[in-house]
Amino acid sequence: MPALPDIRGLKYPDEFVARHFFKRGLHQRAGRVVELGGGTGNNLSLYAAYGWSLTDVDYSQAALDDARWNLGPDATLIQADLSQGLPDLGDAPIDVLLIPNLLCYLTAAQASVVLTAARARLSPGAEVFVRTRLVDDYRCGKGVEEEPNGWRLATPETGEAGLFNLFYTAEGLVERLVSELGLIDPVALKVAFDNVQNGVLVAPNSDLVVWGAVA
Ligand SMILES: C[S@@+](CC[C@H](N)C(=O)[O-])C[C@H]1O[C@@H](n2cnc3c(N)ncnc32)[C@H](O)[C@@H]1O
Repeated sequence: MPALPDIRGLKYPDEFVARHFFKRGLHQRAGRVVELGGGTGNNLSLYAAYGWSLTDVDYSQAALDDARWNLGPDATLIQADLSQGLPDLGDAPIDVLLIPNLLCYLTAAQASVVLTAARARLSPGAEVFVRTRLVDDYRCGKGVEEEPNGWRLATPETGEAGLFNLFYTAEGLVERLVSELGLIDPVALKVAFDNVQNGVLVAPNSDLVVWGAVA
């Protein structure tokens, strides 16, 4: 892994990805981790440090180029648009599935297709981590509503004008992850924080973190 100043893109893992990693003892074993929307590899870098086999799925070739630089030659990088479904991930089962800060970009129907397909690829007892936006997030309601709680954003201050965002209720997200991914013991944590983006107070950012294992 490059030295901190040389890492491209985000330099640190999501705080809750790191909490999940240590609280669930993932530093004491290794296996295959797949991140959907893994971008430049900031979350996978934590797993890399502990010897996990890495797969990053993202539709941005620029982000994957940076992930190659950050994660090295052994990482599996798959360029795919998850709104079109789950790509071929290879034969090895998935021991940890990370979906941080990605589900909001998929419609409800697209998310169902991805989650249902991913379930079939999980190893017995696999760990799942999901983080996504809730309906009380600053952005929800700003733009044009294209489906229930799904908005084409008009928020240039967050850099997301024109992007689709789906916002979940806490109950709806947990229910979906239980029914579509097969989580049996989900932990749900609300995360709210204020931010300043392009000189505008973006408050609150409101997310739900859900993690747990499958049978
Ligand atoms: C907000 S970033 C999150 C990066 C990383 N997962 C994290 O938690 O720090 C969202 C990532 O999802 C990717 N992404 C968004 N929509 C996507 C789609 N439809 N298919 C594949 N990747 C997508 C973006 O390219 C970006 O790398």
